[in-house]
Amino acid sequence: MTQKPDDTIRAGGAQPEGAPNVEILADVAQIVLRAKQLILASADAAIAARGRFTIALSGGSTPRPLYRALAEERGIDWSKWWLFWGDERTVPPDHAESNYRLVRETLLDRIPVPPGLVISPTAGEFALLPPEEQALAYATALRDAFGVALPQLDLNLLGMGGDGHTASLFPFSHALREEERLFVANDVPKLNTTRLTMTYPLINASRQILFLAAGAEKASALAEVLQGAYQPEKYPSQRIRRAPNVTWLVDSAAAQALAQ
Ligand code: 6PG
Repeated sequence: MTQKPDDTIRAGGAQPEGAPNVEILADVAQIVLRAKQLILASADAAIAARGRFTIALSGGSTPRPLYRALAEERGIDWSKWWLFWGDERTVPPDHAESNYRLVRETLLDRIPVPPGLVISPTAGEFALLPPEEQALAYATALRDAFGVALPQLDLNLLGMGGDGHTASLFPFSHALREEERLFVANDVPKLNTTRLTMTYPLINASRQILFLAAGAEKASALAEVLQGAYQPEKYPSQRIRRAPNVTWLVDSAAAQALAQ
């Protein structure tokens, strides 16, 4: 069922363009099926139009079954897929919290992806750099992969935390105010760590943005992000551009606080 939140003008700031597309699905398994369908459709269109499909992957737990499902999908020409990371933790690529490790275990180890097309800010040549240099090097790698100053990813896969963060754009963190750089090291005091993350200019340049959010613990933030006052410092997911190129796939537990 597609539930479109009302497109009322919000208090406290400019209304982002259009209301997002929100699909409420029964559970994570249904989110995974729908996300795979949308991603494969985006890949087919991109490969037909430009000869390749560029996708930024998110970390966290929600996309784990999705990456497994993509690995098991028959008929994908992985040589045409270019994988990027929307954000990363400042840990070694084999660390339990590494998003690179997450994708390697669930996807890369199961598909014939040519190593040259897999770019991650903490793996390979970037692994021994300090965070700030990893971010700079990754931004350069992104520009080199696209040959332009502001790359346009075909699809940006995002999650949302219970505090309304997305990628590693956390509430009140300095990366929220980055308007030039594509990828930055972002201090996250509440996690007592530094993260690496795509910034709004890069994310919002994507042809398509697909959010996955599941679980009751996301319900309050989801209602604020989609229907609350526009406060992107407090709810960073709000500043991700809206329809027509943003789709939210949420389960009924995460959607329970949405005004029907
Ligand atoms: C990360 C992610 C982050 C994630 C959300 C939701 O590196 O953790 O990129 O933005 O998408 O925190 O995480 P869950 O899917 O685990 O709820």
